[in-house]
Amino acid sequence: MEKIKQAYNTEDFREKGHEMVDFIADFLQDSLEEKNKVIQYKKPENQLEYWKNYNKNGIDFLKDVTENSIHLHNPKYIGHQVSAIAPFSAITSMLTSTLNNGMAIYEMGSTATALEKIIAEKFAEKLNFSKNADGFLTSGGTLASLTALLAARQEKSEKDVWKNGNSENYAIMVSEQAHYCIDRAARIMGLGEQGIIKIPSNEKFEMDISCLENEFQKAQEKNLKVIAIVGSACSTSTGSYDDLHAISTFAKEKNIWFHIDGAHGGAVVFSEKYKHLLDGVEKADSVIIDLHKMMMTPALATIVMFKNKKHSYQTFHQKAQYLWEKHEDEDWFNLAKRTFECTKYMMSVKFMSIVQEYGYEVFEEFIDKTHDTTLEFAKLIEKHPNFELPVTPKSNILCFKLISDLDIQEQNNIHSKIRQKLIENGDFYIVQTTLNGKVYLRLTLMNPFTELKHLEILLEDILKLENTFKTEKAH
Ligand SMILES: Cc1ncc(COP(=O)(O)O)c(C=O)c1O
Repeated sequence: MEKIKQAYNTEDFREKGHEMVDFIADFLQDSLEEKNKVIQYKKPENQLEYWKNYNKNGIDFLKDVTENSIHLHNPKYIGHQVSAIAPFSAITSMLTSTLNNGMAIYEMGSTATALEKIIAEKFAEKLNFSKNADGFLTSGGTLASLTALLAARQEKSEKDVWKNGNSENYAIMVSEQAHYCIDRAARIMGLGEQGIIKIPSNEKFEMDISCLENEFQKAQEKNLKVIAIVGSACSTSTGSYDDLHAISTFAKEKNIWFHIDGAHGGAVVFSEKYKHLLDGVEKADSVIIDLHKMMMTPALATIVMFKNKKHSYQTFHQKAQYLWEKHEDEDWFNLAKRTFECTKYMMSVKFMSIVQEYGYEVFEEFIDKTHDTTLEFAKLIEKHPNFELPVTPKSNILCFKLISDLDIQEQNNIHSKIRQKLIENGDFYIVQTTLNGKVYLRLTLMNPFTELKHLEILLEDILKLENTFKTEKAH
C-alpha cells in the first residue's frame, strides 16, 4: 500500500497544486506577453526519442510537458481552431477532474446534468428555436455531427435502421468544402462513398445552391435515398458560410433533414454584430457548435441541438433497462441515452464556470474582437502589393498567398517551405490549405490578444523567407 498512500496524499497535492498554479499563471503571462516561442518544434522522431529517454517526475514532468507543447495563449498562435481557454476554466478543470462524475446516469453527475440542460435552453434561445428544442453536450464536433446524422437517418428512413441495419442506399448531401467529419460520419453509418454527395462550391467557397436539384436527380437515378443535407457555418478552410435559407428551402421541398455544422462559426449567435452570418439557422433540424473553438472552453465540449426534442432521443434505440425506467421524454436527466459516450467528462461545468464568472457577454467580446481584427487584416492584404486573398473573409479564418509569377508547383513549394520554416523558428504558428490546386497560408484568430501589429510582423517574416528561398534557388 506504500505507493497507494503516496498517490492519495492530500498534503502532497496541496503543495504541488500551489506550485503548479503559480507556474501556470507565470506561463500564461509569459505567453500573452510573447516571452516564449509559440512552439518548440521537434520532428516526430526526436519528440519520441526525448520522451523515451525522459526520467523526471512530478512538477518537473508537467513543466517539461508545457515547454514541449504548443502555446495557444501566445498572440502569435494563429493556426488551428482550438481556443486559448479562459484561465478560470483551467481551475474548473482541476475540480471536475477531481470529482470525475461519470455523467451517464443522473446520480453520476447530477449537477453537471442540470447545467447541461440550462446550457441547451440558452442555445435554443440563441438559435431562435422554440421551447420544443433540446440538446446535450458531447465530445467534439465530429461526434456531434455523427450523432445528429444518426437521428436524421432514424427519422427519414422508412424502417428502423437501429434494429434492421441499412435497408436502402441512403445518402447525405454536403458541400465539397465541408469538414471531413461529415464524409467520415456517412461512411461510419455504412453509406459508403456513394452515400456522400459532394456539392460543388462557388467562387466564394460556399455550397453552390444551383447544383442541388441536379445532384438530387442524379442520386435518385442511382437509386440513392437522400436523407439529409448539411450546411457549413462556417467551412474550415476559408470560413465561408453556406446559404442556410436556400438549403432549408431545398430540404423542405425534398423532405430531407437539414443539419448545420456550426462547429466553428455557430458561436456567432452570441454576437449582435456577427449573428447575421447564421441567418436561417432556426430552420435547421439539428445544429452543432464547438464550445472549445470560439467559446473559450477547454477541449472537448460540443453542443448538439435538435429543433424537435423528440429527435434527440432518436439516435440510439437500444434499451438498457437497468439504467432508466421512466418514459423517454421525462428522461432528459439520463444523458447516456442520447449520447455516444457512456462515461462523459463534466464539460458543462467547464463552460458554465466561464458564464458564471463573466456572463455570456464575454463570448460576444471574444467573437467581435477576433472577427474585427481578421477583417481589418483582410483590408490590409487587399491593398498590399505582395499578397492576395482567394476570397474576402467573413469570419476569423483568413487565407492568403504571395503574388508570384512562378509556376503553380513552385509557388506551392515556396508556401509550404515558408510555413514549415515559420513553425521551426517558433515565432508564429500558422497552417496552410489548398484551394483550386493552390497552396494558401491560413490563419484563424483564436486569441483575442492577436493584434494587427502581430499580423504585420508575420507578413514581413514571410517576405524575408520568400527572399531567402528565392536566393537559395538562384545559387
Ligand atoms: C467546420 C468544422 N466541423 C467540424 C470540425 C471538427 O470538430 P472537432 O475537432 O471538435 O471534432 C471542425 C474542426 O476544425 C470544423 O472546422
